[in-house]
Amino acid sequence: MSLQADTVRVDLGARSYDVEIASGLIGQAGQRILPHLRRKKLAIVSDRTVAGHHLAALGASLDAAGIAHDSLILEPGEATKDWANLARVCEWLLSQNIERRDLVIALGGGVIGDLVGFSCAILRRGVRFVQVPTSLLAQVDSSVGGKTGINTAQGKNLIGAFHQPSLVLADIDVLSTLPARDLLSGYGEVVKYGLLGDAAFFDWLEAQGPALAKGDAAARHYAVLRSVQMKAGIVARDETEEGERALLNLGHTFCHALEKATGYSDRLLHGEGVAIGCALAFELSQRMGLCAQESPSRVRAHLKAMRMKTDLADIPGDLPGAEALLALMGQDKKVIDGKLRFILARGIGAAFVAEDVPRDLVLSVLNDGIRGRAPQK
Ligand code: GLY
Repeated sequence: MSLQADTVRVDLGARSYDVEIASGLIGQAGQRILPHLRRKKLAIVSDRTVAGHHLAALGASLDAAGIAHDSLILEPGEATKDWANLARVCEWLLSQNIERRDLVIALGGGVIGDLVGFSCAILRRGVRFVQVPTSLLAQVDSSVGGKTGINTAQGKNLIGAFHQPSLVLADIDVLSTLPARDLLSGYGEVVKYGLLGDAAFFDWLEAQGPALAKGDAAARHYAVLRSVQMKAGIVARDETEEGERALLNLGHTFCHALEKATGYSDRLLHGEGVAIGCALAFELSQRMGLCAQESPSRVRAHLKAMRMKTDLADIPGDLPGAEALLALMGQDKKVIDGKLRFILARGIGAAFVAEDVPRDLVLSVLNDGIRGRAPQK
């Protein structure tokens, strides 16, 4: 583990790019972006909260490198990832005379990254962009791999495109500006990497996770680095999710149903749903005889040790019954020919794609989770 700058290459032929991970990267953004520019001008899109914390430092760094820039500041929150803001970003970029060979910076978390990435995918049939992810979730997951899109009334991310960034700058220092709940929500995606493919990383998280949550910069750096290394490897082998990339959806089938059931509200943040979803996926795996009882117990013990939402009982307010939750899973993008697919595991670090999972077992896992719910006050 070290505090030096690390670079992870996402190897995609002509569309390859670097993910740089270090403290203080926003202050060096100008120098790091300069080699990617064909003229010294770019546009920044951010949200009000993130801009309040980081836009001045980014602007100063671009000024120092002699790069002209203007910015569009949107409202924070998931609701911003919609058609209206897609139009607004595209029209603003056109009004800024952003050309195909220019760069756009997405400064923010997953919402800004997805919205700006999709705007760039369709603007002039493809404009290049740089991701400067400012949430843990965006640093370890959404800023890497080129999934971009918006939400519609029918569901999340149903309109989108694969459009890879030209560079990702993951500044570890920005994590200290996050509310504790947002940081822990992003940590749900970090745990996912250990669970899906690296048991030694999960061991490390069990030991170092509490220090990471308290602010240990070296632990945060290593957790982001290892997560990005894993994601970069998977994306390089399966960019458009024909196979292995689906493993990144560990916990997500349950999560998407729970997010829908809670109205995409503050009751459940995405990463919290991923954490609960991972615990449920391991429980389902154990009931199918795929992994030992020890595995779901370890997953839950670690989430609890991190004071994270772990069980359905940890979601405030009412949830629909098991059948209704199962029906919500049916709308998931991963449904193929009407059959539910789950990412299950043969143990910690050994996830795989399972087709034809017995419906009764899914219902029993959900029912037991729901029965375990504490009475609501
Ligand atoms: N967030 C899952 C993926 O990028 O494939």
